[in-house]
Amino acid sequence: MSESKSPFPTSDPVNLGGAVPGIRSRAALDRAATLIHGAEPASRSTVPIVLAGKKGSILTDVDGNRFIDFVGGWGSTPLGADHPRVMAAAVEGLHRYSVENTDYVPAEPLSTFAEALLSVAPSSLSRVAYEVSGTETVETALKLMRAATGRPWIISFFGQYHGESYAAQALSAQQAEFHGGMRHLMPGYLHVPYPDPSRCVFRHDGPCDGTCVTEWIRERLCFHVVPPEEIAGVVIEPIIGEGGVLTPPPAFWSELDELRRSHGWLLTLDEVETGMGRTGRLFAADHWELQPDLMCLAKGLSGGALPLGAVLMSEAVAEATDGVHTGGTWAGQPAACLAARESLRIITAEGVLDNVAILEGIARDALEPLRAASPIVADIRIRGLYLAVEFMDPATGRRAPEISARVHQRCVRMGLIGIQDDVAHYRGLPALNMEPELFSAAMEILSAAITEVGRDLDE
Ligand SMILES: Cc1ncc(COP(=O)(O)O)c(C=O)c1O
Repeated sequence: MSESKSPFPTSDPVNLGGAVPGIRSRAALDRAATLIHGAEPASRSTVPIVLAGKKGSILTDVDGNRFIDFVGGWGSTPLGADHPRVMAAAVEGLHRYSVENTDYVPAEPLSTFAEALLSVAPSSLSRVAYEVSGTETVETALKLMRAATGRPWIISFFGQYHGESYAAQALSAQQAEFHGGMRHLMPGYLHVPYPDPSRCVFRHDGPCDGTCVTEWIRERLCFHVVPPEEIAGVVIEPIIGEGGVLTPPPAFWSELDELRRSHGWLLTLDEVETGMGRTGRLFAADHWELQPDLMCLAKGLSGGALPLGAVLMSEAVAEATDGVHTGGTWAGQPAACLAARESLRIITAEGVLDNVAILEGIARDALEPLRAASPIVADIRIRGLYLAVEFMDPATGRRAPEISARVHQRCVRMGLIGIQDDVAHYRGLPALNMEPELFSAAMEILSAAITEVGRDLDE
């Protein structure tokens, strides 16, 4: 088996000085497996290192190895780790305000950040409910949708991921095994295929424009399953992330709008992962100028400093749900709002989205040729810095998670840590402000790993 070494000399930021996993990582992984629920020992760990620290886009492990970070706190550090201005805002906020239950003792940074956020969000949105995590924003959106309409049912889409609480899991449909023995406990969700022309489940005369899904909802779901007047609305990831970077065609959105108008349905966009610049626009909604009734944000909202979620909603939803309780003790911390204000300022005013466009171009140049050249590549989907390579078994043409696992393991051993999932994707959520040279180096590693794994299978 031929295997590339990392393209970096030891003086460069990426330095695989020792074995991966090293002795310390191995011991720490094995110890964690005896203490932490769900943790895997070194022999089975997907990421076979233990973190010692992060700076910018570099991860260091406890053995002193350094890696390029394509996990990015699973999308929570859009400006890289430890951004000095974001961290300074958070630390100053913590010194000044400590921790407060802000729906009891209000603090100014909540309004200041809400004003800034609403000024750049879709114009249909005019109020903010703060939460701690993405999952909580989804819970709150579901609560508000039902309270505002007085209707029980919510439509969601195959492939979506919304979090780990009972309701967020019931709404999700990424993989059946994620909800083992639980889905029946939380009724009220109707799942339909995601508008994905690359693997449309409907028969077409021409190419798929996504209206097959809206037609299915109108003609089948609302006829056979639940009448439309019992449906509160739709929750959709405007670009699916965990399911492998899938983008609906424009015609889907206009047809969905038509359904909304005819039946009084609310549209909730889950932008927990797509929000704050990930897809090349500040929000994925901006690609189609969508005007949702509710929008969920979290992850990168505070620039990687502190947990912060926000549900943005229209005035009509806010008025109709006035008595509904949201938030909690840690929701809307003043320090998190100060960090989020600084991060938003940097993303919107300091060329970060221009950098995303440059890096997107580098990714396309590096990866697109592999579509034809590599027998294991089923598809490559890139939207801004939302990146997914899908792998297949060349013998059967079927999705091959074991091949994405091999590519990932090879990347790790060459100095790149990204996201490998069980569906058969290798994905990246790198910092939006990553230096082009470092990003190019990451692309070099990923391309080499894909090429080598494909060649090994051929031998
Ligand atoms: C689209 C989407 N919604 C919700 C969540 C849940 O967010 P959190 O992990 O912050 O609870 C995620 C997490 O990956 C997500 O991708």
